Amino acid sequence: MPKATVISLLNMKGGVGKTTVAVNLAAYLARDHGKKVLLVDLDPQSNASLSLMPEASWMKWADERGTMADVFELDARRKRDADPAKLADCIVHDVVPEIPGLDLVPSHLRLTFLDLDLAARPGRERLFSRKLAKVIEDYDYILCDCPPNLQTATQNALYASDFFLVPMQPDFLSSVGLSLLLDRLDYLKEELEFKIRCLGVVFTRVRGHVNFHQETMKRLPSEKEFRRLHFFPTVIPENISLSEAPMEAKPIALYNASAPGAEAFSALAREVLARLG
Ligand SMILES: Nc1ncnc2c1ncn2[C@@H]1O[C@H](COP(=O)(O)OP(=O)(O)O)[C@@H](O)[C@H]1O
Ligand SMILES: [Mg+2]
Repeated sequence: MPKATVISLLNMKGGVGKTTVAVNLAAYLARDHGKKVLLVDLDPQSNASLSLMPEASWMKWADERGTMADVFELDARRKRDADPAKLADCIVHDVVPEIPGLDLVPSHLRLTFLDLDLAARPGRERLFSRKLAKVIEDYDYILCDCPPNLQTATQNALYASDFFLVPMQPDFLSSVGLSLLLDRLDYLKEELEFKIRCLGVVFTRVRGHVNFHQETMKRLPSEKEFRRLHFFPTVIPENISLSEAPMEAKPIALYNASAPGAEAFSALAREVLARLG
């Protein structure tokens, strides 16, 4: 199999829907299109992990098999059978039994100290890319759910990625944030020699009756600094089912397939595939 296309979900703001997009886009790519998908949770808050695994299973997995904290070799003293350095050992295969082909590398709270722990490590932003290389041919798509910053975990994701995808809410401060994000990415691309390209911007948590949401979505694509970006025609509505689904450790496709949020993600998955050719 050829190498997977690796996509990082990116925004320096928290709470904008990065994790919700990562989880549900991954689920639809696997479920409706038969793709082999690996979702990698790089955020210490572990929301993507907990959106697909009951908390007890996640804790057991962390203990017995390992998480991204082990992939980053954060604590070599842990006693586990598996080699802590191997990413393949940490993969939860078919994490949701109803969706074969959707795999997950869970995160762990220990990732909070990644920046400190790797501060003196040479090539620290390339660690993940090296580990990922061993499994990259097993997948069609690898989605990296990043924390809301551009620090070590995110830099590792970016270094390994072909594309970044920006979930953003359509409001004024978020559009300022988009500008800052693109600026910082240009800087990182130069300094760390990333080859990454922008897959596009997807508007999230859109409320139909909020005028400035509609106004922002109309305005941004024609603004000079954003004209080069692709804005996905499908937007993700604010939809209660999308925030309820994680409580059952299920993607929206299984929790409530007829919810507006489900229809949006089904359409977004098609648009992403079309755009990737
Ligand atoms: N489209 C949406 N509709 C309703 N709730 C959403 C939507 N997107 C995200 N949420 C909720 O908002 C919170 C933050 O979303 P999340 O995807 O975790 O954002 P991020 O990863 O950017 O921090 C979560 O509780 C999530 O369930
Ligand atoms: Mg998140």
